[in-house]
Amino acid sequence: MTISKVLIIGGGLMGSGIAQVCAQAGISVFITDINQEILNRALKNIAWSVGKFIEKGKVKENLEAIAGRIRTGTDFSAAANMDLAIEAVFEKLELKHEIFKKLDEVCGPETVLASNTSAIPITEIAALSKKPEKVLGLHFFNPVPMMDVVEVIKGVRTSEETMRAGIDFVKSIGKVPIRVESDVPGFLLNRINLVGYLEAIHLLEQGIGTVEDIDKGVRLAFGRRMGPLETGDLVGLDVSYGALSAIYEESKDVRFYPPQLLRRKVKAGELGRKTGRGWYEYNPDGSKKEK
Ligand code: NAI
Repeated sequence: MTISKVLIIGGGLMGSGIAQVCAQAGISVFITDINQEILNRALKNIAWSVGKFIEKGKVKENLEAIAGRIRTGTDFSAAANMDLAIEAVFEKLELKHEIFKKLDEVCGPETVLASNTSAIPITEIAALSKKPEKVLGLHFFNPVPMMDVVEVIKGVRTSEETMRAGIDFVKSIGKVPIRVESDVPGFLLNRINLVGYLEAIHLLEQGIGTVEDIDKGVRLAFGRRMGPLETGDLVGLDVSYGALSAIYEESKDVRFYPPQLLRRKVKAGELGRKTGRGWYEYNPDGSKKEK
């Protein structure tokens, strides 16, 4: 099936990024969120980011054409007849269940239903859906417009047809699909990446290295664009905490238990870039504060 109309539920960091890459690929998008203010902010962020891509010559179309493909609204019943719906709301199972119940009411029988969850098993999200064979994971990476890879995740009931549709969709927006055959918490790439993040936090807790040195060392030694702690700030400490808790809950593997320092920082509201303070401190314009 060709996917030409996409509904995105949640216009936050990930939802707005996903909307942008879809619109850039010529797909019509409808974004929904709890209020219009959030949606207006999403549109503003998308316009800024598309502008940067145009400036660098990486996107050939003009902003009006791309922005013209994006509609927004707080009521997504207006968005029936979509080919694909992608849920990108907060990482809470009850909320995701609520959204998938609504999707059952709104979407036609052919609509593919995806979650961008970081770590909740797709099977669990699909459990209350009337069409679990149509549900899969499409796990985008942050920042979505820059990151080339998307995990396409199979739940226990996901059909092969749905997996194929997901893989074709990812290719159609110019990204590379990574097929994940089972929805183990954390999926494939986060399982690998979180281990390094956890080790960085443990080393920091033990006073073995500073935030700056850990990030600098990892960037230089392993050829990464960003170190684990600056990545953690970009992702959000709460998001990583949620992912680790979900992996730990399911696997009871102590390696994934969120370290005390991370738990305390989340409780203190130090969630990374979005709150101006995480492993680093940030100025109002988003730049890092120099120490
Ligand atoms: P966010 O907090 O930036 O955005 C979530 C959005 O969902 C908010 O705008 C919120 O108003 C909206 N929302 C909440 N309840 C809603 C409802 N009932 N109906 C419609 N919208 C609703 O969160 P973010 O970072 O975009 O994460 C979204 C999902 O993507 C989560 O499941 C997260 O685990 C996952 N994810 C996050 C990554 C990251 O780096 N932040 C990376 C990959 C996946």
